[in-house]
Amino acid sequence: LNTNLNEKKEREQWGSKIGFLLAAAGSAVGLGNIWKFPYMAGKNGGGAFVLIYFAMLIIVGFTLMMAELTIGRHTQLSPVGAYRKLKAKWAWVGSIGVLAGFIILSFYSVIGGWVIKYIVKGITGAFAGVEATAFEGIFVNFITSPAEPLIYHALFMILTLGIVFGGIKGGIEKYSKILMPALFIMMTLVMVRSMTLPGAMEGVKFMLKPDFSAISGGTILAALGQVFFSLSLGMGTMITYGSYLSKDENLVESSFQIPLIDTAVALIAGLTVLPAVFAFGFDPSGGPGLLFITLPAVFSQMPLGSIFAIIFFVLVLFAALTSSISLLEVVVSYVVDEMNWERKKASLIFGILIFLMGIPSSLGLGVWSNIKLIGGKDILDSMSFLAENVMMPLGGLLLCIFIGWVWGLDNAYKEVTNDGKVKFGLMHVWGFVIKYVAPIAIAVIFVQGVFFS
Ligand code: PHE
Repeated sequence: LNTNLNEKKEREQWGSKIGFLLAAAGSAVGLGNIWKFPYMAGKNGGGAFVLIYFAMLIIVGFTLMMAELTIGRHTQLSPVGAYRKLKAKWAWVGSIGVLAGFIILSFYSVIGGWVIKYIVKGITGAFAGVEATAFEGIFVNFITSPAEPLIYHALFMILTLGIVFGGIKGGIEKYSKILMPALFIMMTLVMVRSMTLPGAMEGVKFMLKPDFSAISGGTILAALGQVFFSLSLGMGTMITYGSYLSKDENLVESSFQIPLIDTAVALIAGLTVLPAVFAFGFDPSGGPGLLFITLPAVFSQMPLGSIFAIIFFVLVLFAALTSSISLLEVVVSYVVDEMNWERKKASLIFGILIFLMGIPSSLGLGVWSNIKLIGGKDILDSMSFLAENVMMPLGGLLLCIFIGWVWGLDNAYKEVTNDGKVKFGLMHVWGFVIKYVAPIAIAVIFVQGVFFS
């Protein structure tokens, strides 16, 4: 009876191949690429970080992307149900993902709020005629004030909620097709402007030339966490998105395309922000504010800069929203599938809870800045560390063990190749990496980064 009920619930499917690709790429491409990647590279030795990021991308990124899509499509269920269907005792691994989604969205929405604020600034002409060096003060003033960022945090959450509320397919699939390419073109334009500023080449060099003395166990863990975060891996987002895929979709292709698009956007963002950092004499290790300080400075130096600024931050907002809805979707689909809540009720209540959970992250930058949680980090950084450097790698590690040792590679091979119909030359390499290389690599980096650095 129970399964009957579950089957009756309509299971949405993606409208088209390109629609799925852009929605999945939309989940992957977000603040992680545009906001986080440049400042992580800036903080961790530039080229050294980029190089390690690539290594992690190859070992862990492609592999796990394929693994999650495979499990999702095979079971046609969201993470908890998916694990349970394949092995009842493993359902709790899915719940770690749900919890991670909850935590990530709580601070993601705070940053998303900053983006909205910067759109408003652009519209009200607040960037025009401002000295490049003044942008740091403007940004710090804003994020450290108690109330205003919370209003924007609420706004961002309302937008996210609104989309998940009404279902994703018609809206996101449709808009992603226009917005993702628009973002790409716009970012490339701004990148060219940034790279042609006087002194910008120092930034390009910084990003391409590895400074190995900047690498520690912590750097490697940070790069690994960034791969998980940026590709939306290790917490079941791609299991969920894969569960809406039809059986004749080519998983092998998608698993390469999504990470490639994601990486391209991260590199473009890095080559936009870091050259500007050097051109204007900011500090590359400036941290989370980098995007919000250097880009307005670039725009203030461009003809029609205010208009560029508005369009740019609007596109960043859309990139952030296509990610935040996938975060909320993981939580909502869990509550809908497992607790039989109505979708609207689930989105609303969990949207509010996640908003509340995000408030300390915002206050921790200002009035609560004396509160340090994990290793001297403020609240927002601690949340992000917990999710990206602990929960996601753990989720990824368990997924590898699950596929390699519990569900079994033969089952995975069958699903990933559509029962042998899709050619996949590297199939056994993939299997070997999932079974041995990735779990060992993740475990070593994790232990090393958390306990010895
Ligand atoms: N990948 C998104 C970004 O880069 C963030 C995200 C993480 C989305 C986890 C979903 C799940 O912004």
